[in-house]
Amino acid sequence: MGRKSVLDLRKLKAGNDKIVMVTAYDYTMARLVDMAGVDMVLVGDSLGMVVQGRSDTLPVTLDECIYHTKCVSRGLEKAHLVFDMPFMTYQISPEQALQNAGRAMQESGAQSVKLEGGERTASAISLIVDAGIPVVGHVGLTPQSVHAMGGFKVQGRSDEAAERVVRDALAVQEAGAFCIVLEGLPTDVAQEITDRLDIPTIGIGAGVHCDGQVLVSTDLLGMNTSFKPKFVKHYASLEQTIVDAVKAYGDEVRSSAFPDAAHSFNRKTPRKVAKLY
Ligand code: KIV
Repeated sequence: MGRKSVLDLRKLKAGNDKIVMVTAYDYTMARLVDMAGVDMVLVGDSLGMVVQGRSDTLPVTLDECIYHTKCVSRGLEKAHLVFDMPFMTYQISPEQALQNAGRAMQESGAQSVKLEGGERTASAISLIVDAGIPVVGHVGLTPQSVHAMGGFKVQGRSDEAAERVVRDALAVQEAGAFCIVLEGLPTDVAQEITDRLDIPTIGIGAGVHCDGQVLVSTDLLGMNTSFKPKFVKHYASLEQTIVDAVKAYGDEVRSSAFPDAAHSFNRKTPRKVAKLY
């Protein structure tokens, strides 16, 4: 059995099985989340914040996403791999979007690409899908529009805003996407979209009624406790675990307790050193 295909993911929705998605940005994390049995791995442009330490995702480049997706690809055996199209790699024209999506697919090892935006992105999605590239849509809180939204804010709170997001989701499905991320939406709005769409919805900060959920791997593992928005749940406290482990290592290096004999190499017969003086 190889990596999950778009058909396998459709079957999960048809069978009422929830879809589990996480982000990963390197080989080591990819290997671990694959071992944990997730269905989908996204190399998100969130790497700009998580890996590069930036305050938003806008500076992330296509080359950077290709590099990280290649690394992740080497660690996955079973999970479906999604490539996140960075800011300004698909907004200029559908042709630009297709060219960059094509490059992502040829070079990175991904099986699909993700684009943010609803009605405004539909023509780009449609052209990419026509070229045989599976597309994941992304509506609601779309981080690449952080400045237009006035911050990372929950969308669809008013009736009018909710209707706009529903229209966006329908446009993404109509354009041919096989799956859609719903980010930062009230639970009832995400539920309505999930009920109205045939394609699976994957929520992040969008309540429990979505067909699946996605979290940033470093968030769910509790690797940065200074970042704790309401929708993030820590399933481990790796921040403390890692700090404690590295402290213990530092203490042992400083006291010469490490490396001990068990972690050192010895010759069977000690070398006779000629006395040169
Ligand atoms: O970039 C990302 O990690 C994402 C997910 C949060 C959906 O877009």
